[in-house]
Amino acid sequence: MGILIDDKKMRVHLYTDNTSYVIETLQGELIHSYWGKRIELPEHSPLVPIEECPSFYPNPNVEDKTYSLDVIPREYPDFGRSDYRSPGYRVEVSDGTKITDFVVQSFLKSEGKPDIPGLPSTYVQEGDRVHTLQVTLKDAKTNLELNLFYCVNETYDVITRHAVFKNEGNEKVILEHALSASVDFYNDKNFDLIHFNGSWARERFFERMPIGRSKHVIESKRGSSGHHENPMVMLARPKTDDLQGEVYSMNFVYSGNFTSVVEVNSYDSTRFQMGINDFDFEWNLKPGESFYTPEVVMVYSDEGFNGMSHIYHQLFRERLCRGTFRDQERPILINNWEATYFSFTQEKLEAIGKAANEIGIELFVLDDGWFGKRDSDKSGLGDWFVNTSKLQNGLGGVADYMNQEKMQFGLWFEPEMVSPDSDLYREHPDWCLHAKGHTRTEGRNQLILDFSREDVQDHIIQVVGNILRSHSISYVKWDMNRNMTESYSALLQPEHQSETTHRYILGLYRVMEALTTEFKDVLFESCSGGGGRYDAGMLYYMPQTWASDDTDAYERQFIHYGTSFAYPSITMCSHISMSPNHQTNRVTSLKTRGFMSMMVNLGYELDLSVLSEVDRAQVKRQVAYYKSIRQDIQFGRFYRILSPFEGDRSGFLVESKDQKRYYFFYFTALNRPNRLSVTVPLTYLSEGNYQVESISFGDDNNGTGEDGQASKADIYITPKTTDLEGAVLPSRFLNHFGYTFNQLQSDFEGQLIVFTKV
Ligand code: DGJ
Repeated sequence: MGILIDDKKMRVHLYTDNTSYVIETLQGELIHSYWGKRIELPEHSPLVPIEECPSFYPNPNVEDKTYSLDVIPREYPDFGRSDYRSPGYRVEVSDGTKITDFVVQSFLKSEGKPDIPGLPSTYVQEGDRVHTLQVTLKDAKTNLELNLFYCVNETYDVITRHAVFKNEGNEKVILEHALSASVDFYNDKNFDLIHFNGSWARERFFERMPIGRSKHVIESKRGSSGHHENPMVMLARPKTDDLQGEVYSMNFVYSGNFTSVVEVNSYDSTRFQMGINDFDFEWNLKPGESFYTPEVVMVYSDEGFNGMSHIYHQLFRERLCRGTFRDQERPILINNWEATYFSFTQEKLEAIGKAANEIGIELFVLDDGWFGKRDSDKSGLGDWFVNTSKLQNGLGGVADYMNQEKMQFGLWFEPEMVSPDSDLYREHPDWCLHAKGHTRTEGRNQLILDFSREDVQDHIIQVVGNILRSHSISYVKWDMNRNMTESYSALLQPEHQSETTHRYILGLYRVMEALTTEFKDVLFESCSGGGGRYDAGMLYYMPQTWASDDTDAYERQFIHYGTSFAYPSITMCSHISMSPNHQTNRVTSLKTRGFMSMMVNLGYELDLSVLSEVDRAQVKRQVAYYKSIRQDIQFGRFYRILSPFEGDRSGFLVESKDQKRYYFFYFTALNRPNRLSVTVPLTYLSEGNYQVESISFGDDNNGTGEDGQASKADIYITPKTTDLEGAVLPSRFLNHFGYTFNQLQSDFEGQLIVFTKV
């Protein structure tokens, strides 16, 4: 059923097996009564006590001095009529005022889930139990209609929200602010706010703080979701951790400016919101037009952060990502970026490709530098024709060579950008975002093409399409290496200029829809200087993301930990690169680098043609081993066990779909002398007895050095057991007492322990 409408009480109960969400009405207003663990509704309505409002709380209903919008829990709060908290929307009408007074007209229930025109959203497949509630509200003065959509996905245990404003009047209105979701927790501020902060090469670092009585804004104003914050925000009970406790989260299916507000008022009620940032945003809504806000995916779990993450992982993997590759194992790739940067020749690429093929790598990716005049980041973007001084035989030459070597060929693009030193810019100086008469601020020596323009979108669809059509290319890395400034368009009238950033995102989605639809068999990976646009909007078009330009194995544990809260591991790409590492100069073993990348979507980014024999043999074993476990890793269930943010070690467990194999990835930071061994409870192993193996590829003291073979030596458990060769341990023991790791032998060590049910 999923949605119960009680017309008499004007109350709606949205529910899945585990979650309830209750909307009621009070004096024509929509109120938010409950979101959390599944409940049976009591008779009385509204669910929340509506108390007499205290002094200094104005009353919009002159007949009722006890009633103020400032103290009632609201579902989509307006502006200027006594609610002083953060509004859900704001509309300027023709007389310059911003007051609307929407009154509930109807609750309508339907099966399935509507698409949101021009925007990505989670979808439904036959057999899914999904229902939609449409709440229609009207403002008599402006003739604006507001439709709030709630899609209850019982199969995946999520509720999604978006709003649609329709101008049914005769005059234009200006939408100044239009969030997708707002929820008030009545008299409840017992939350920690968790968000994912960062910067380039340091994306999605876990941040947690008590909310207190204050207002927090997590946002991006950069024109893309960005490195600095991620559009996924959580409110959790103070004792909640990965393993247990309650958490409420909102995840925005959008790739541009966003805001998430958490605001606690003086009466301890908490407002939690998500939507497009109103920073430099406006939308002119002419008579007859509609504006659609993007989708917010709301997940409640009382099974800790892991419980919440599993819901997102499954939903995003199966009902957000689309296309040929959704259910396919992803190829192991070699990308030449860190091996060569801009200086490569056909011969060099062939040497790397040859070595990669011998090692068993499946896809060769040619990164930046293959086109135009592109010997550094100072020129060439926009000129998407091959640089024949580097590649004498053209792109076809490299592609054919790789294909001959039985490898797929992939190509890097940065389609949204233009270098001032490029033919494209010389020909179309107006095609970039800019404000007339002002300096065009550059980032990485480049400007941003104005994707709000249809002619620019069409040009990109055409040039990228032509290249994909004329070569054997099976993968595209779609990069984006700066954030927006002067976000205005030469084509738009003055009153439409503040629409540019949202129009840009709509344009980007149009381009990606066209290309990914035509090139169904091309695997698209999104990238923005690493993980600067790692969001659910991009995943709808491109089912994997380059998680970070930081390829250092120690740093990556933080990035993987943070990213995994919202995004499934199959979408997260991680490459084994050179040591010392190019971003941190840190030395880590090939083994540690290997395990860090194998827990997600494995690739390489080093010069394979110059590897020592020993390293080459080890890489070969890594590749063979990853192929043997990739189905389990990419489609299994990912658990965070130990947080690198809470100590000097981290642990991640992957459970195979059939719950027969468990992969525990364990990493330590600095070694110390004279330490005791540590025991890690594994908590999640399904009932049974397990054979335990420590995996090695040959560079550690435990290794056998045999191809893809695991070493069973050096396993310690509690209570002290000296010889566990072939040991079989019951899950009850491992889950409760844990698995004990002996003192590691050096800094930055990684281990992979595999538990196989016997
Ligand atoms: C940034 C990406 O994240 C890198 O992997 C690489 O593709 C460079 N851009 C190329 O300019």
